[in-house]
Amino acid sequence: MKKKVVIIGGGNIAGTVHVPHYQNRKELEVVAVLGRNAERAEAFAKRHAIPRFYTDGDEMYAAEKPDIVSVCTPNSFHYPAVMKALENGCHVLCEKPPAISADEAWDMHQAAKARNLVLAYNFHNRFAEDVKIVREKAAAGLLGDIYVTKVQALRRSGVPAWGYFTNKELQGGGPLIDIGVHMLDAAMYVLGFPAVKRVTAKQFQKIGKKKSHGSFGEWDPKKYEVEDSLFGFIELEGGNLLQIETSFALHIIEESVMDVTFMADKAGATLFPAHIHTDKHGELVTLYQKKQADPDRQRKSMEAFIDRCLGKEVMIADSEQGYIIQRIVEALYESAEKGESVSLWPDNRH
Ligand SMILES: NC(=O)c1ccc[n+]([C@@H]2O[C@H](COP(=O)([O-])OP(=O)(O)OC[C@H]3O[C@@H](n4cnc5c(N)ncnc54)[C@H](O)[C@@H]3O)[C@@H](O)[C@H]2O)c1
Repeated sequence: MKKKVVIIGGGNIAGTVHVPHYQNRKELEVVAVLGRNAERAEAFAKRHAIPRFYTDGDEMYAAEKPDIVSVCTPNSFHYPAVMKALENGCHVLCEKPPAISADEAWDMHQAAKARNLVLAYNFHNRFAEDVKIVREKAAAGLLGDIYVTKVQALRRSGVPAWGYFTNKELQGGGPLIDIGVHMLDAAMYVLGFPAVKRVTAKQFQKIGKKKSHGSFGEWDPKKYEVEDSLFGFIELEGGNLLQIETSFALHIIEESVMDVTFMADKAGATLFPAHIHTDKHGELVTLYQKKQADPDRQRKSMEAFIDRCLGKEVMIADSEQGYIIQRIVEALYESAEKGESVSLWPDNRH
């Protein structure tokens, strides 16, 4: 019998990534979409040949008894939607970021663990072949000791004009929680999730409230509530440093930079595309080079989650790692708001 899948939040990512990949798998059947707005949920169901739509969660769980749920709502609804799905015995793929706060992400992790259910986050960038290669070569010692890591998720003029991305309450923040989390997860995955000692950040709101147009459309500057750039230093166990730069709007030359750079004592590397290099008598020596970054990350992330739900022991962006990412994000915002460093060491919260 096919496993039944329900989509919660039939918007952009649900329609372009989740539904098509579920519908590609013969073991699965997308049976319904749950939305807040009946008209939109019905239109989404029609557009994607999904038989039923709901606006009431209790009604949906009682009628459909799904095995798998995808949570694709704005960020602030991830927590209640994931908790309810877990309570109803479903495996869950939740969009990034895991939640709005570290406490929420911790509860979600604990709830999944207690019920022995799969809870994965769609941190799809870590599924790129590039990440696999750099991670393996770093683990084999090609780079040596990675003492500085630079995480960049920068857009020159990329304020998302659709959805709720400039609404602080619904999204929890701007570029850090929206796109910074992607590169932060990829970096932490390569590094093996080292413990974090201390976090220091500065955030700015210099452009989003003044401009109203960008390469991702038009927004209302009066409703622009999130940071338009944030920069942070994350001190890792053992004295190593992770530096993060994120922006929706920033006066830089490039339209977009989404990459991670590792600086180690034997060699250096970038992730997208994978490039490993060293220096010989002042000359740059390329040790490994991939011509183009793997574009097939979303599919691989979806396939891994589905395979895990079907019992295969494959890598997923799991709920414990999701909690760690959320905790770093929360500490970066806390530091930026208070204007002081935030210590996460020793870890005494949980
Ligand atoms: N992995 C990625 O690359 C990626 C890309 C884009 C978005 N996302 C994430 O996906 C999520 C949604 O983003 P999007 O771009 O699809 O937004 P969107 O605005 O296009 O879609 C969100 C949908 O959720 C519905 N919704 C709102 N509140 C709801 C609720 N309480 N219950 C059920 N449905 C509700 C809205 O009506 C809308 O249809 C966000 O968390 C975002 O961070 C991830």
